[in-house]
Amino acid sequence: MNTITNIKLLNEKISELKKNGLSIGFVPTMGYLHDGHISLIDRAREENDIVIVSIFVNPTQFGPNEDLTSYPKNLKNDSAMCIKHKVDILFIPNNDEIYPDDFSTYVDVVGLSSILCGSSRPGHFRGVTTIVLKLFNLVSPQNAYFGLKDYQQFVIIKKMVRDLNLNVNIIGCPIVRESDGIAMSSRNVYLSEDQRKQATYIYQSLREAKRKIKRGERSSAKIIDDITKRLEMIEDSKIDYIKICDPYFLEEVEEITEEVRILIACFVGNARLIDNISAKSKWIKAIIDQTKG
Ligand code: PAJ
Repeated sequence: MNTITNIKLLNEKISELKKNGLSIGFVPTMGYLHDGHISLIDRAREENDIVIVSIFVNPTQFGPNEDLTSYPKNLKNDSAMCIKHKVDILFIPNNDEIYPDDFSTYVDVVGLSSILCGSSRPGHFRGVTTIVLKLFNLVSPQNAYFGLKDYQQFVIIKKMVRDLNLNVNIIGCPIVRESDGIAMSSRNVYLSEDQRKQATYIYQSLREAKRKIKRGERSSAKIIDDITKRLEMIEDSKIDYIKICDPYFLEEVEEITEEVRILIACFVGNARLIDNISAKSKWIKAIIDQTKG
């Protein structure tokens, strides 16, 4: 594996790869890698000649009172995991090269970036789209891999790619969970043992909601009420949002007649956890299956 920390060296390497007609699969991360990240890397490995992973804790996507300075790091372990999973290039840029003092250009997917996580984390998605576009320009991948764990991020990146005619396929990969159901996240280290156990209610509540919708419940208000009751059982928790949305534009749905995404953001102690699930009634599923022929 080639570890590159410098943009000029990366440019040279990418030109060489392109000249040889090799396809590039890209996995952008903020490091502290776990099996969720690895699932993206493995998928990229299967589908591309060259796999590039970036590690960069992007300051522009953190709010002033967020965990930028305490964000967990373990470069040695990350690097070993990348070698084990046959990554070709690990790109670890430094902040001064990515954001020189006179940096002043940002990308904003207007609308989608200010709902859900965007309303409680103003500027967050502007930081995400800006860094992801910069990384796409540097790496020029054919395929880029994102986890559905950050569902809104995935939808926003796809929209940016469409709006700006970027020549990259965005591939969404399933959420990887611990054995008790909690979605893997670098931020799970902020949880105490007790909080960690109670945080499993988040996924449980999503599963229950999915079951109810499958059986025919159509009222979003009723489902949200049930989830709220379940999350309120977690000590020291604060619900940020529970929303039921259409899966493409993330518009809120009142009556569930199509496939939906249920999205949750909830603080457990100081950790802000997010999770989501897709749901549809068995009638909708039957109709979709029929139309598939
Ligand atoms: P980070 O949180 O490190 O996540 C990197 C990628 O791993 C994202 O696409 C995320 O959705 C995916 N991922 C994280 N946990 C996952 C899980 N449990 N299952 C499946 N995929 C998972 O997301 C970011 O970094 C940043 O915002 C970034 C896109 C790198 C821009 O800075």
